[in-house]
Amino acid sequence: MYLTKEEEKILDGEHGEVIARMFRLLVRLGEIYGADRMIPVGSVQVAGVSYKSIGDPGTEFLEDIASKGARVKVLTYLNPAGMDLENWEKLGFPEGFAKNQLRIMNAFRQMGIVVTSTCTPYLAGNLPRFREHIAWSESSAVSFANSVIGARTNREGGPSALSAAICGVTPNYGLHLWENRQPTVKVKVDVDLGYNSDYGALGWYVGKQVKNKIPYFTGIKNANTDQLKSLGAAMAASGAVALYHVEDLTPEADLVEKKNLETITVTRKEIKETYDKLNTGEQPDIVIFGCPHASLREISALAGRLEGKHLKKPVWICTSRMIKEAAIRMGYDAVITKAGGSIVADTCMVVSPIEKMGYKTTGVNSGKAANYLPGFCKQNVVFANIDDLVEEQL
Ligand code: F3S
Repeated sequence: MYLTKEEEKILDGEHGEVIARMFRLLVRLGEIYGADRMIPVGSVQVAGVSYKSIGDPGTEFLEDIASKGARVKVLTYLNPAGMDLENWEKLGFPEGFAKNQLRIMNAFRQMGIVVTSTCTPYLAGNLPRFREHIAWSESSAVSFANSVIGARTNREGGPSALSAAICGVTPNYGLHLWENRQPTVKVKVDVDLGYNSDYGALGWYVGKQVKNKIPYFTGIKNANTDQLKSLGAAMAASGAVALYHVEDLTPEADLVEKKNLETITVTRKEIKETYDKLNTGEQPDIVIFGCPHASLREISALAGRLEGKHLKKPVWICTSRMIKEAAIRMGYDAVITKAGGSIVADTCMVVSPIEKMGYKTTGVNSGKAANYLPGFCKQNVVFANIDDLVEEQL
């Protein structure tokens, strides 16, 4: 792998031990995957933020490198933390957990990372451009950036993303290269989809079928960005799809080669079977929307359904702090709170310790959340559309 003179100096420790250690990790990764060189990245998104995922060893590692002077070179955002960083007490997050989560956030802040914890950085001030090289971690954000925006990123692990942030570069391999962005399977969608949960069901089904292939969809009409983020998140969760193309909708769809591809057809039958499969519970104790983190349009849709209503059981909608601020301004937060619901910022149902907060059955409209809640949070799942889920809690 070719390294510039400056990069060799970094590797030799001329810029300090921390950056040398981070750079070594990137070089090793590049060698394993056959990268020819390092390329500059426009932005980074780091996963491994929740105390629930990284525990004491991760917390101590971050504090150690922050105290030794690790500082990021490019715009860097964080994946969701384990709790709402401001309202954790009111929402019932355990105090011991909160203290450790705040230590983690302080270490990231010290490194110059924007302490905005979200899996939708593109809705909260970290928007890459078409063909920009970035190093993002969270699988739904990776899918959205690659597919809907046409930026270029591999699915980074927490350490490799942090290294890219500190070094400002990433090895040039995988989805950074045009030849690796070509579709490898065609998916013909022969069913009308309406709710975001329909796109989650489609994504979950297709991810299971295609695993880590690159799908080229036909038959999806007028999906908005919320629906595409639901689709991509679910495909990345049930399979390992980091890039997909949609005829007439996504920016690289016209440019890629799509002849002679094996074809999968999805009809109403497969969507219905997926809803059935993802439902493992009845009557949720709590309903949580916002996986991936909700847009203002999704919060507005929930507020519209809760206006003048009184919830009998909790409803959360997870989002970034930035979008929550906009929702407060628009009065959506007041409507949701008055009905008994909460806009929860900085965290989500999967990385927060909901199983320790007394919840056993969670209602979601997200194929990704439905995929992970049973294993990560020991939850039974009610997977349904927003109307049915709101109805359940009234
Ligand atoms: Fe985001 Fe959490 Fe879902 S990180 S994509 S809301 S599981």
